[in-house]
Amino acid sequence: MPSRDIDAAWAALEALGRRPGATAIRPLFAADPGRFARFSRRAGDILLDLSKTAISNEALAALLVLARAAGVEGFRDAMARGEAVNATERRAALHMALRAPAGVAVRTGEEDAAAAVQGSLATMRSFVGQVHDGTLRGATGERFTDVLNIGIGGSDLGPAMAARALWTPAAPLRPHYLANVDAHAWEEVRARLDPARTLVLVASKTFTTQETMANAGLARAWLADSLGEGSVGGHLAALSTNLRATAAFGIAPERVFGFRDWVGGRFSMWSAIGLSLALALGWDAFARLLAGARTMDEHFLAAPLEDNLPVLLALTEVWHVDMLGCPARAVLPYDERLARFPAHLQQLEMESLGKRVTAAGLPAPRATGPVVFGEPGTNAQHSFMQLIHQGTTPVPVDFILVANPDHAHADSHRKLLANGLAQAEALMLGKDEDAVRAEMRAAGAGEAEIARLAPHRVFPGDRPSTTLLLPRLDAFTLGQLVALYEHKVASLGALWGINPFDQWGVELGKTIATRTEALLRGEAAAVSAATGPLAAEILRLQRAG
Ligand code: F6P
Repeated sequence: MPSRDIDAAWAALEALGRRPGATAIRPLFAADPGRFARFSRRAGDILLDLSKTAISNEALAALLVLARAAGVEGFRDAMARGEAVNATERRAALHMALRAPAGVAVRTGEEDAAAAVQGSLATMRSFVGQVHDGTLRGATGERFTDVLNIGIGGSDLGPAMAARALWTPAAPLRPHYLANVDAHAWEEVRARLDPARTLVLVASKTFTTQETMANAGLARAWLADSLGEGSVGGHLAALSTNLRATAAFGIAPERVFGFRDWVGGRFSMWSAIGLSLALALGWDAFARLLAGARTMDEHFLAAPLEDNLPVLLALTEVWHVDMLGCPARAVLPYDERLARFPAHLQQLEMESLGKRVTAAGLPAPRATGPVVFGEPGTNAQHSFMQLIHQGTTPVPVDFILVANPDHAHADSHRKLLANGLAQAEALMLGKDEDAVRAEMRAAGAGEAEIARLAPHRVFPGDRPSTTLLLPRLDAFTLGQLVALYEHKVASLGALWGINPFDQWGVELGKTIATRTEALLRGEAAAVSAATGPLAAEILRLQRAG
């Protein structure tokens, strides 16, 4: 698509964004009581409601023109075909192949990606079966009861999030996740584990990540101390693309579950990186997770843009970030089981979209990925929602609601959902000063008190939110939900013209940390005058105990 079409599409959109009243939501509902029906869409089990945003019919049309001009469909299809859409690393981004049905051909370059995926799934499945039926046991002959996944970033967040969402006491194994190099985390997890019954998975795409290798070393020593060096191998497995490094760590080739470099870390929970899920939840649950994601893939690939949930979520983000200047977005799952979902999205979205140059290496002409943060509702209401209701900066919210709980406490669940719906409504409706004054007067407040407090009790309203509604939370619907956000990210990459699949921004800190470690051993000079004095003070405090 010629760049003048893209420029024209942005210009048309920006003109709409500058119009007086462009942030108003209430008049849109007043003008069209059927707005919910017009601004909500379904895909698979998920309902997406965009009605409580300030996107008008005209703005939606302009956003869709932009999506077409920016080549969202072309980028999506190139991704599905296995082209090197991750241009800076000359790699494909084939996470969709990880959940493609057997028999569907997917190639990238010379490689038959579909065959690689099916082979890897078969190996994983056989291993999981042997652990579950007791063929594979710990060194003392006991069955494995616990699986510890050691990994960080994409090698932790997706599986940890899904295990938190789906694990129940009836599941085959107890899952544990260790990420931080802070050994307090290791001490905490170790206290819950019996080495004789624990299977340790070292999850690292590169098998060089400092934190993961340090923690793997601690876990390896723990196994060796408790069970003997000769027994360690039977309690270890690796999830990695780096077979040379896994061998150097002493993990037998048949205990290495590989995947390819066309699986990005934050898109990898569907690959061997998800082995902890298959072990802890059972193979059927893992297969349902993949099937759910596949449902969303099929929708993303086939649905027209105007009905395409990931594309619509991406366009809503463009509206909020680039037209309304919102620097952040909050994600509020009204479901405790999704407590780690915001953390997963933080990496998925911010590592993908936190880019200041375009895929061509030019300065990005407008704002790209916002800060993403969140907490489960209702906890969030007693934390940061004050700012979202009354702060100076509008922060759009994604509300995620689940209609049916997996418990029998209907009253609690009704309260939970009522709070989620109420927050979205309160953000939109607000409360003006006249209403505040009338309310205070009715409650018997004097005029002086009303004048003093009324400004504090005003809610500006017209604060945007989107709502995602799931019928229930299970492996199938969770797979759909995660894939929805993955495709939203890819769509935003195309819309903003940035590469959503690389993450060069994490490198500098890693390099400096290596040198700083030497500084803290007293073996190197500080990288800058900013760190030297602090490092010296740390060393002084450590000497003082
Ligand atoms: O944070 C940077 C990063 O490279 C992520 O993209 C990745 O998910 C994480 O580190 C872990 O990497 P690895 O799986 O190679 O240990």
